[in-house]
Amino acid sequence: MQRGNGNPDRTGVADADQRLVLAMGRSGMVRAEFFFPPPLAAMISVSPPAPLAAPAPPATGGPVLPRDCTFAESDWRALLPFWYPVAFSHEVADAPFAARLLDERIVLYRTSNGGVSAARDLCLHRGAPLSMGTVEGDVLRCKYHGFCYDSTGKCTLIPAHPGAAIPPKLHLKTYPVREAYGLVWCTLGDGSAPFPRFEAWDDPDYLQVLPDAVDIRAAAGRQMEGFLDVSHFAFVHTGTFGESTNPVVPSYPVTPTENGFVADYVSTVSNYPTHLKHLNPPGFEWRRLFEVFLPFTARLTVFFPNDGQLHILNAVCPISARRSRVFVPICRNFDKDAPLQATLDFNHQVFEEDKEVVEQQYPEDLPIDLHDEVHIRADRSSIVYRQQLGALGLGRGYTT
Ligand code: FES
Ligand SMILES: [Fe+2]
Repeated sequence: MQRGNGNPDRTGVADADQRLVLAMGRSGMVRAEFFFPPPLAAMISVSPPAPLAAPAPPATGGPVLPRDCTFAESDWRALLPFWYPVAFSHEVADAPFAARLLDERIVLYRTSNGGVSAARDLCLHRGAPLSMGTVEGDVLRCKYHGFCYDSTGKCTLIPAHPGAAIPPKLHLKTYPVREAYGLVWCTLGDGSAPFPRFEAWDDPDYLQVLPDAVDIRAAAGRQMEGFLDVSHFAFVHTGTFGESTNPVVPSYPVTPTENGFVADYVSTVSNYPTHLKHLNPPGFEWRRLFEVFLPFTARLTVFFPNDGQLHILNAVCPISARRSRVFVPICRNFDKDAPLQATLDFNHQVFEEDKEVVEQQYPEDLPIDLHDEVHIRADRSSIVYRQQLGALGLGRGYTT
């Protein structure tokens, strides 16, 4: 029997009630994994998640909530410190680019050294969005009265009074920015939060593909959970890779990590599109390795036959509590000369299939309290996901 490469050798060492499974990783290290025995009702009594290396959210009284904030205040403060993708790198070119993150309006612009700067998209003179303005060298100029701001946010010129002193209050709020994986990432925090890893993007052995973003009228948590969900393949993805006659979900381990968790799912559901299923080697076991970087980024590695690997980054920008923009950089180390359009079309269709359901789920907020929805054994990932989001401080208030 052929098996997806790299699958850890699971030893069935378990205690009497099978609450803990010890697994032998490739490094030879034994690690503890969550294991949920039947009956299913017992699955919501999961051990508390391990402490995360997440930055502490600022206490109430920190940054001011955006005007018309759609998040519960406690959720907004809990989400604030993390890094999120806010634009494609190619979208931030000669002109200022308007983005939105956690309801905050942000202007992104590229300075003369090629770097990207980010500031609150609000001119402090008369409230015009700075994204309506222009970039001149390293300066952002407001469209309304021409005030100029440098990349530290400081106003450097008031054209109506060029010789006059500039009030110190004319200083924009700026934000840390990073470019990675074809995307511009931003945080409303201080930048000390861990950054999602996607090494294959810079690996010459891989082909890098950057599909269009997917705009979804749904909460980021709902979309993320759908990306991690393995029991919907046979029902939602029958137009792409799902197999309607193969709905059973084998047990899989979920292991907490420093920045989230890892779910290691092995099944016989091939990742080939329906019209290529005949390429599936008989008995091949498909390994799908999900790595979550809290709160809204996950990397999926699909292990193909002949040591092929497909890496998909599901990186969500929480525009508001009800709107998300999903960026999906993809890398693969096989079929590197094949036409890209088929990959783009396939990816687009998979995400459209998910979108159709995710946009209709309600309540729109991801229920963090495990008692609010019913869980089955196949939901191990989402149970831990909800627990970990709860540990960050999410779910203490709900939006309406
Ligand atoms: S509103 Fe920007 S310069 Fe007046
Ligand atoms: Fe899906």
